[in-house]
Amino acid sequence: EIKEPFKGKRVLVTAGPTREELDPVRYFTNHSSGKMGYAIASAAKKLGADVTLVTGPTSLQVPEGVFVENVTSAKEMYDKTLSHYSQQDVVIKCAAVADYTPVTVHANKFKKKNDTWTIELKKTDDILQALGERKEHQILVGFAAETEDLETYAKDKLARKNLDMVVGNDVSKEGSGFGSDTNEIVMIKRDGSMKPLPILSKEKAAREILNEVLELMGR
Ligand code: C5P
Repeated sequence: EIKEPFKGKRVLVTAGPTREELDPVRYFTNHSSGKMGYAIASAAKKLGADVTLVTGPTSLQVPEGVFVENVTSAKEMYDKTLSHYSQQDVVIKCAAVADYTPVTVHANKFKKKNDTWTIELKKTDDILQALGERKEHQILVGFAAETEDLETYAKDKLARKNLDMVVGNDVSKEGSGFGSDTNEIVMIKRDGSMKPLPILSKEKAAREILNEVLELMGR
């Protein structure tokens, strides 16, 4: 077994949530802790890769030797990720990117007045979709965090976003998904092969994901 199988390879990982601003004091976000993405970045580094971590706001410490791009909004994550894309060999999109963002960002704090406040949201640009459309030599891995019909949605994402592999996890299950230190994942590849794994620490899950990536790279 080679000690640093990713030596000379560039791996970009996105992690964490995004924040979508509404006014100077308020934003929309989600429960992503960033733990899974940081674990992948750390494991890839240990396996010899040159790692870039594009991360939304988290409370985690950046793994040693990893190049970090800090971003806040989905738009910023889109721009940063695409700017690095052509140089990468592998991209693993673990971030929980906001699907919708406010149409209007108020310049001043929105004052309390009426009993209801209707906020209009518009779709964000799907980063993974954009990467899939522009794919050249890269291995592209996406995540599918679902609360129902995991396999169906995961397979749909694999095809629709032109991925090489999708990592599905049921975020409604105990010991899996957001904030947890463990994850129960299933890896699905383009050839239709499925690899379900038991509940593992996010570090162990990260190694499993990278092992599959190595296989996809023919290493
Ligand atoms: O379709 P859905 O958003 O559930 O797909 C999840 C996958 O797509 C994740 O890998 C996530 O990082 C990525 N994604 C993205 N840009 C978005 C939304 C999701 O890259 N705007």
